[in-house]
Amino acid sequence: MALDSDATKPHDRLARALADDMQAVNALIRDRMASEHAPRIPEVTAHLVEAGGKRLRPMLTLAAARMLGGAGDRAVKLAATVEFIHTATLLHDDVVDESTRRRGRPTANLLWDNKSSVLVGDYLFARSFQLMTECDSLAVMAVLANASAVIAEGEVLQLTAAQNLGTTEAVYLQVIRGKTAALFAAACEVGAMVAGASPSQVAALREYGDALGIAFQMADDLLDYGGASAVIGKNTGDDFRERKLTFPVIRAVAAADEAERAFWDRVIERGDQREGDLDRALDLMRRHGTLEATRDEANAWAARARGALDGVPDHPLRGMLSDLAAYVVARLV
Ligand code: IPE
Ligand code: IPE
Ligand code: MG
Ligand code: MG
Repeated sequence: MALDSDATKPHDRLARALADDMQAVNALIRDRMASEHAPRIPEVTAHLVEAGGKRLRPMLTLAAARMLGGAGDRAVKLAATVEFIHTATLLHDDVVDESTRRRGRPTANLLWDNKSSVLVGDYLFARSFQLMTECDSLAVMAVLANASAVIAEGEVLQLTAAQNLGTTEAVYLQVIRGKTAALFAAACEVGAMVAGASPSQVAALREYGDALGIAFQMADDLLDYGGASAVIGKNTGDDFRERKLTFPVIRAVAAADEAERAFWDRVIERGDQREGDLDRALDLMRRHGTLEATRDEANAWAARARGALDGVPDHPLRGMLSDLAAYVVARLV
């Protein structure tokens, strides 16, 4: 079929293959994001949820479940759970990052206020826990509860590593593995678990999600310096403004001469940022090839994700997950 040709984006092919289940997931999300008692909740959740989002994480859960034996209603519930956790973290993250655009819209913290974002984020977290209990599996709940704790640790570690020019690549990896890859890994793992997959298959899916999440966040960190704001639906340059030590900056600092080092010290460590500084930072990253180095590193993690899929039987969805790994690095959104 022409529509399913190799030219179609892996993300779209996955969405098409999982369309029925995704419809059920979206219906469940709409149903559970509401609240009869506090009108601010549906206002904020509708603003964010109706803006869309790629729905990558729930698709990972559904794909993992379907290719390893299927799991029907339980996989749908877990997919919605995972998207709720993701949405909660976005509300909190935009407060912490003082971001003003998300999914092509003004952020909730801008439209309402920080208090609403924090509290509605808490509400969505709580709703995610209600939903996961409906799957009647303590083992699944342990995976998702653990991921939730690890995400928070990653965000807090990032907070304390920001503005510190001594931040190493190892700390950066720990941050992104926590704040982003933990949920990708858990999404894949719980999908495999409810499908009744073997322990080695569950481990393979978890490893795939972990490596995919790392590749995804590294690409996101690249887009923050090179993406088109209108396309990615978020403002670019936020990481620089927030003085975050992401991979391209860490590499540029490592390669800096004395004058460059003084520049990084001023803009990142002292936070004295002036007009033209972001362009100068981009210039230094280009000069030292650190944007390419970030893409190379992300591609290496994508290759690792693909390799992990060798641990599960061949299946059309496995092929799509494999293609997705390359796509998350090349993506423009
Ligand atoms: C945004 O994730 C947060 C990161 C981990 C970078 P997504 O890019 O998957 O967000 P949506 O759901 O598609 O908006
Ligand atoms: C998002 O990290 C990770 C979580 C939501 C936990 P970022 O702050 O790097 O992502 P964006 O750019 O705001 O989506
Ligand atoms: Mg952010
Ligand atoms: Mg953040």
